[in-house]
Amino acid sequence: MRLAVLASGRGSNLQAILDAIATGALEARVVGVFSDKPTAPALQRVPEPLRWSRKAKDYADRGAFGTELADAVAASQPDWVVCAGYMRILGDAFVQRFRGRILNIHPSLLPKYRGLHTHARALAASDAEHGASVHFVIPELDAGAVIAYAPVPVLTDDTAESLAARVLQVEHPLLLAVLQMTAAGRIDEQSGRAIVDGQPLFTPLRLEFATT
Ligand code: GRF
Repeated sequence: MRLAVLASGRGSNLQAILDAIATGALEARVVGVFSDKPTAPALQRVPEPLRWSRKAKDYADRGAFGTELADAVAASQPDWVVCAGYMRILGDAFVQRFRGRILNIHPSLLPKYRGLHTHARALAASDAEHGASVHFVIPELDAGAVIAYAPVPVLTDDTAESLAARVLQVEHPLLLAVLQMTAAGRIDEQSGRAIVDGQPLFTPLRLEFATT
């Protein structure tokens, strides 16, 4: 399974993918890492020939950047596109080009807390649970069908940072679990629904992972 990975920052989710591939836990190949930030540490996690980045702000409009990004991703001939800490909205043109084959890991129990600052919002709402979700990417931000989620407890003394760190602990195994199912051909999308083993998911898969 050829994976194109989009990342804007640290790339810990990308590293989890690379580590799983190295140990044979994930039968896949990262065919490119694409970033809107040339300084993203994520880019340094793969050899130079696999890196692509452009300063999004150098482009007249979102569409121009999106088209160039889509062309670069298409050139890597991916089976799937994985947004792993990618912090830019993928425009309609990009999504349509790879529709049904783009996954995103988002640090909340979707549909709660689409967008940014999800941990602070969960704390502000005094949620007992928070977590991460893997979903299909559609033009609307963080709104595609959720395939699976991993909950974590919110502790009374949590800060946004401590909660984010706990969520990150489940993001990696969650993303890998979904990618393993994807590599096995078990995941699909049909008319906005996540399909697992040929059946539409009415509720996302709940995956539990230990956290410290
Ligand atoms: C993660 O919390 C991810 O869910 C969010 O960006 C954060 C950084 O991810 N989208 P990474 O360490 O760059 O993979």
